[in-house]
Amino acid sequence: MLQTRLMILSVLHIYVCPLAKSLMLRVPLEVQSKPLASQQFHSFLATETLKLTLDNKMNMEYYGRISMGTPPQLFRAIFDTGSANTWLPSSNCPVSNAACQLHSRYKAHKSKSYVQNGHNFSLAYGNGHVSGYLSQDTIRIADAVVPGLTFGETLSHHQPAFITTTFDGIVGLGFSQIGWRNTTPFLELFCQQHLFQQCLFSVYLRRMPGELYGGEITFGGIDESRYTGDVHYVPLSRVGYWQFEMSSVSVGNRQIAKKIEVILDTGTSLILMPIDIFNELQTAMGALVENGTRGISCQGENLQDIHFHIGEKKFTFTPADYVVKLETSNTTICVGGFLPIYESFWVLGDIFLTRIYTVYDADAKRVGLADAVSNEN
Ligand SMILES: *[C@@H]1O[C@H](CO)[C@@H](O)[C@H](O)[C@H]1NC(C)=O
Ligand SMILES: *[C@@H]1O[C@H](CO)[C@@H](O)[C@H](O)[C@H]1NC(C)=O
Ligand SMILES: *[C@@H]1O[C@H](CO)[C@@H](O)[C@H](O)[C@H]1NC(C)=O
Repeated sequence: MLQTRLMILSVLHIYVCPLAKSLMLRVPLEVQSKPLASQQFHSFLATETLKLTLDNKMNMEYYGRISMGTPPQLFRAIFDTGSANTWLPSSNCPVSNAACQLHSRYKAHKSKSYVQNGHNFSLAYGNGHVSGYLSQDTIRIADAVVPGLTFGETLSHHQPAFITTTFDGIVGLGFSQIGWRNTTPFLELFCQQHLFQQCLFSVYLRRMPGELYGGEITFGGIDESRYTGDVHYVPLSRVGYWQFEMSSVSVGNRQIAKKIEVILDTGTSLILMPIDIFNELQTAMGALVENGTRGISCQGENLQDIHFHIGEKKFTFTPADYVVKLETSNTTICVGGFLPIYESFWVLGDIFLTRIYTVYDADAKRVGLADAVSNEN
């Protein structure tokens, strides 16, 4: 059995650069890492159009602090580029729903800025779902105030998917095309405030040796201290998710896929790919098949580098970038940070995003990628 590790949080400071129109706002992200063999792997891609097949290896959550209402009620939320809706547990959820009861709950009656909506909602994720009704209120992120966000108050959380999560809710950072009909999702509403010159944000996630994880989202700008070289831009192939076409993927010298549609998803921990490519990747990478499971060496010897070709640029992942360690009581198991899905596209989650600094440019409908700094203070 794998043991639950203690969570170690890395809290980065919050600050706002006071530059009139080129204001940048940073939201620190804390991370919880807790591999649980008995748990379903959590993926937070909304599955109205996606159905993910999930595995049970690793669970990593990157979340930040937000508040909702007036006066502010505090929550921990995942900032999810893989969805566009925002939801929080409701104080009206039944006592029987432990997954809701164990988290901070939004109390509409205590908020002066609450506006009733009247519609119900239900959202399906990879291995669970939430449902409830829509409400409207003021959301605050760091020092930014965004009034009038329509969000979900959840009455029912599928269990056990959401019972052990550290985060209370999710803030979707996708476009309105994948959000609730006739609502303005967070990012668009945020940009309508004109706090920033450009409607874009950048994500820096870190994956440090040991258990120290963390990162930050920078709204309105790009933090040049968080990457090296140039930011390489590619147009979105479709607006909704942060989706683009990757030229090819190769393992060592062997190309395993080309012209693939990929989605950048901060709400998913690993890299997900179509199952046939997954099998090919495992073999090409050098994974051993032992009693049906694919283990790999924790030292990474005999393992191949994986190259992601994006436009003209090649991003190389060494074993140190993609090997995930799962500690048990007396031993450490290593696996590649990949999972198969029964879809035709890839989902690039935190394993990818801890190696690559990403820019999400809603104005120019493009994403930017750069080599993230590997170590910083
Ligand atoms: C919303 O859900 C509640 C409880 O499940 C139900 O009583 C109500 O009729 C629903 N409202 C709408 C507009 O569907
Ligand atoms: C694989 O199975 C064999 C036979 O059941 C067993 O002896 C061996 O210890 C197993 N290996 C691992 C790594 O579990
Ligand atoms: C851990 O060690 C104990 C005692 O040495 C042994 O009985 C147990 O089977 C081991 N567990 C695993 C998962 O290897």
